[in-house]
Amino acid sequence: MNIYANWFIRMALIYLALGVVMGAVIGIQPEWSQRLRFVHIHLNLLGFVTMMIAGVAYHVLPRFNARPVPWPGGILVHFILHNAGLIGMSATHLAGGLWSGGLLHAVFVGFALMTGAGLLIMVYNLFFVLLAPREGP
Ligand code: HEM
Ligand code: HEM
Repeated sequence: MNIYANWFIRMALIYLALGVVMGAVIGIQPEWSQRLRFVHIHLNLLGFVTMMIAGVAYHVLPRFNARPVPWPGGILVHFILHNAGLIGMSATHLAGGLWSGGLLHAVFVGFALMTGAGLLIMVYNLFFVLLAPREGP
C-alpha cells in the first residue's frame, strides 16, 4: 500500500475517535456547543471523511486508471497542510479565533488557507489521474 495513503487513513481514524468523543461531550454539555460544534463537525468531516476519501483515492485511482499522479511529492505536502491546518483551525477556534476579529482570527484564517491549499493539491493530483490511461510498454 502507498505509504502516504496509509498515513491519511490512520489519521482519518484518529480524527474520527476525537470527533466522536467531542460529539459526546457536546451531548453531555450542550452549553459548550458554541466552541465545540465547529471542531466536532470539522474533525469528523474534514478529518475523518475527507482524509479517508483522500487516502483511499490516492491508493486506488492511479491503479484503476494505470496513470500516476502528476505531482507525487504533492501527496506529502497535502498531508502536512491538511493536518497542520485542521489542528491549527481547531485550536484557534477553541480559543475563540473565529469571532475575535483580532490576531487570533488572522491566525485562524492562515490555518484555513493552509488546509484549503492542501485540498487544492489533492484536487489537482486526483483530477489529472483520471485523464486517459498511459499506454503500457
Ligand atoms: C457517537 C458519535 C457522535 C456524537 C455523539 C455526535 C454528537 C453530535 C451533537 C451533540 C451534535 C449537535 C451539536 C450542536 O448543535 O452544537 C452534532 C452535530 C453534528 N455532527 Fe455529530 N456526533 C457524532 C458523530 C458524528 C459523525 C461521525 C459525523 C460525520 C461524519 C458527525 C457530523 C455532525 C454534523 C455535520 C453536525 C452538525 C449538524 C447540523 O448542522 O445540524 N457527527 N453531533
Ligand atoms: C479548508 C477547509 C474548510 C474550512 C476553512 C472551513 C471553514 C468553515 C467555517 C468558517 C464554517 C462556519 C462555522 C461557524 O459559522 O461557526 C464552516 C461550517 C461548516 N463546514 Fe467547513 N470548512 C472547511 C471544510 C469543510 C469540509 C471539507 C466539510 C465537509 C465535508 C465542511 C463542513 C462544514 C459544515 C457542515 C458546516 C456547518 C457547521 C454548522 O452548521 O454550524 N467544511 N466551515
